Amino acid sequence: MNAKAPKPPMARLDRLLANLGYGSRREVGALVAKGQVVLDGVALKDTGAKVPVVADLPQRLTIAGKPVDPPAPLTLLMHKPLGVVCSHREAGRSVYELLPQRWRARMPALSTVGRLDKETSGLLLITDDGPFLHRVISPKSHVAKQYVATLARPLTGGEGEVFAAGTLMLEGETDPLAPAVLEVLSPTQARLTITEGRYHQVRRMFAAVGNHVTALHRDRIGGLALPDDMAPGDWRILTAEEQAALFG
Ligand code: URA
Repeated sequence: MNAKAPKPPMARLDRLLANLGYGSRREVGALVAKGQVVLDGVALKDTGAKVPVVADLPQRLTIAGKPVDPPAPLTLLMHKPLGVVCSHREAGRSVYELLPQRWRARMPALSTVGRLDKETSGLLLITDDGPFLHRVISPKSHVAKQYVATLARPLTGGEGEVFAAGTLMLEGETDPLAPAVLEVLSPTQARLTITEGRYHQVRRMFAAVGNHVTALHRDRIGGLALPDDMAPGDWRILTAEEQAALFG
């Protein structure tokens, strides 16, 4: 006996497109009336039509001749450039401004998976998948975040032991940091691997040992390295294999 394929989740067309940022349900209705919403080659006539919410929807549904944006859950991989912020609340240009404008109106909203400082570059994940986000950032998951820090002063030699001890207390905090791994790359450059994501953690760790970070770049989260072919500001959809590699 053939096992039946599970039915995909369905959504009302007007609700789906409104949640993808294509406008109010009324505006979506106007697109439908103009014959600009086409599923599997056929113009949809009813804004209440049920549409399958599947990952390959962009290959099946076009809006004014262009593939529809990918539905949730959506996770992006970005090479965050220097000088942009990760929060809507912080002043300045944000990482969200590097994405299509319509995506700012998506529901569920896209959020960064943890934050990088304005003056930190490197691998940043952006997702609308809450459970995935929590799994990556929870210290309980032990997903390692790896940074390359450039320092104002030469390393003295004792930093690795201090960071590995699991007893380092950052100023103003009451819980010691989990053990972290330091790899010296040059007298003024080191790779630091941490499993937590406390506020300005890497900069504060080096400050705690009397140094100062002058440049900071994240090149890996778990088993996922920032791809070499991605320039600062580049972004793309995270593949299923990459998502699995994170926890591998
Ligand atoms: N630690 C920091 O100090 N800054 C970052 O952006 C990330 C980790």
